[in-house]
Amino acid sequence: MKNQWHLSLCLALPLLANSVPSLADGRESYVMDKWAAQPAPGVEPAGNPRYTASCGSCHFPYQPGLLPAQSWERLMGGLSKHFGDNAELPPEELNSIRNYLLNNAAGRTNSAVSAEMLSSLPPGEPPLRISELPYFVKEHAKVDAQGVKDNPEIRSFSSCNVCHTRAAEGSYSEGEVHIPTARHKAEKPL
Ligand code: HEC
Ligand code: HEC
Repeated sequence: MKNQWHLSLCLALPLLANSVPSLADGRESYVMDKWAAQPAPGVEPAGNPRYTASCGSCHFPYQPGLLPAQSWERLMGGLSKHFGDNAELPPEELNSIRNYLLNNAAGRTNSAVSAEMLSSLPPGEPPLRISELPYFVKEHAKVDAQGVKDNPEIRSFSSCNVCHTRAAEGSYSEGEVHIPTARHKAEKPL
């Protein structure tokens, strides 16, 4: 627990430095105190090698804090029919990954994005996709959904790391978004 907090702090500090106009203006101690009581920005990075190797083989290994435990439970219970793919695992590996996901799901770590995802959860059965959570939908409302689909470099909102340049570190800050432009558009004669 203590180590996790230290890790969060290391991640928080560089972000903090960016958000404070000048560290010499006397406000830094105020901001530090404020952060100490607040969740760490972003989401806890995915630190389980088994998880990242296995679930990261087809797509970005989504941080466990992006979905509530009930969603992970449903996903892990239906891997033979996983969004049109078969992602089945041997029982021992399945159990170990499932435990990791459930122990680190949204609401079980103190990070800002997890808290937002969780608080937007509608009543009833939780969705299987992060990209269906209301907070996600709200934050991406201005992104051209058809453009995402048509762009071979993105294809889907599930490709977090294509647009969020620091997604692997659990950082989804607005300033770090870079949406690749579709080649055919870029090559259009002026
Ligand atoms: C055989 C390939 C494959 C493997 C292995 C795999 N997935 Fe997926 N996963 C997919 C596909 C395909 C999608 C749908 C992507 C899309 O819509 O663009 C997906 C989507 C997802 C999504 C939804 C993303 C969103 O849109 O919010 C989650 C969550 C997810 N996978 C979790 C897992 C977990 C956990 C594991 C490991 C147990 C895993 N996946 C392993 C193929 C795979
Ligand atoms: C097509 C590019 C694209 C993809 C793919 C994408 N995002 Fe985003 N994301 C954005 C843009 C653009 C914003 C809004 C930035 C802004 O408001 O300026 C955003 C905002 C966010 C925010 C809010 C950040 C904040 O500080 O307000 C989160 C969290 C987020 N995305 C998570 C994800 C996750 C998780 C995935 C994958 C499941 C994902 N995104 C996939 C482009 C994308």
